[in-house]
Amino acid sequence: MSEELTGRRGIVTGGGGGIGLGVARAMIEAGARVALLDREGDGLQRGVEELGDRAIAVTADVTDPAQVGAAVERVRSELGGLDFVVNCAGVRYEASFLDHDLDMWRKTLDVNVIGSFLCSQAAARVMLEAGGGKIVNIASFAGELALRNRVAYCASKAAVIGLTKATALELAEHGINCNAIAPGVTETPLTAHYFQDEERRAAVVSNIPSGHWAMPPDIAGPIVFLCSAAADYVHGVTLFVDGGWVAGKGY
Ligand SMILES: NC(=O)c1ccc[n+]([C@@H]2O[C@H](COP(=O)([O-])OP(=O)(O)OC[C@H]3O[C@@H](n4cnc5c(N)ncnc54)[C@H](O)[C@@H]3O)[C@@H](O)[C@H]2O)c1
Repeated sequence: MSEELTGRRGIVTGGGGGIGLGVARAMIEAGARVALLDREGDGLQRGVEELGDRAIAVTADVTDPAQVGAAVERVRSELGGLDFVVNCAGVRYEASFLDHDLDMWRKTLDVNVIGSFLCSQAAARVMLEAGGGKIVNIASFAGELALRNRVAYCASKAAVIGLTKATALELAEHGINCNAIAPGVTETPLTAHYFQDEERRAAVVSNIPSGHWAMPPDIAGPIVFLCSAAADYVHGVTLFVDGGWVAGKGY
């Protein structure tokens, strides 16, 4: 990976594990300093120890505006500015349409949609003063394709795609780019149970034209691009990084 983010400073939410940790690692390899933002937990501390002195840990709940505001201020002061935010924090519950619990529905929207909005809004206020910055939301192929037993999750990720376009529309004139990445199935703690079941593994792979599911570095590379100067003229797009799953739904 080249050094296209040298000197940049940013936040990766959900950085305590899975895709977020992979993204933080790629950002650091590209020259950035990164704040891993996550809920209280071992993952955050372990992540920072693993990534070394260009990473800091910030504990916050993305659904709480006061915690998000304090976290962004802390990052601005400790890293000396804020050039990008990647909204990776997310939750997903599996339940059938007929049995879906309302609390799970609200939590899904709260973390995946409102949490992304709150972090982007707080970050954008800082970026505005500096004359620009990059926001990357993590949508999902499930924002485009319907998946069984994930009605709230699919709705939340379709909302993230809409949030991305509406954010881009208002922030482009301020030099702030907002885009989204829509990962396909990626091996992380969120999806670990898929890979224990041979039938499910085969079903997943049969849908992926490239023939394999993703690992976090597959998702991180395009995010580095969207946070770099090479993407200065890219606004409001959702880039599917799914091994061709969505494109391959034709015949
Ligand atoms: N893994 C996949 O197959 C896949 C596919 C498409 C999209 N995604 C999306 O990618 C993102 C990362 O997923 P992952 O697979 O790495 O999941 P993960 O469960 O490994 O990581 C999610 C992280 O978000 C954090 N988080 C959850 N709620 C939070 C809150 N309120 N405040 C702060 N942090 C919070 C968790 O602590 C965790 O560290 C999610 O938005 C997910 O929907 C994942």
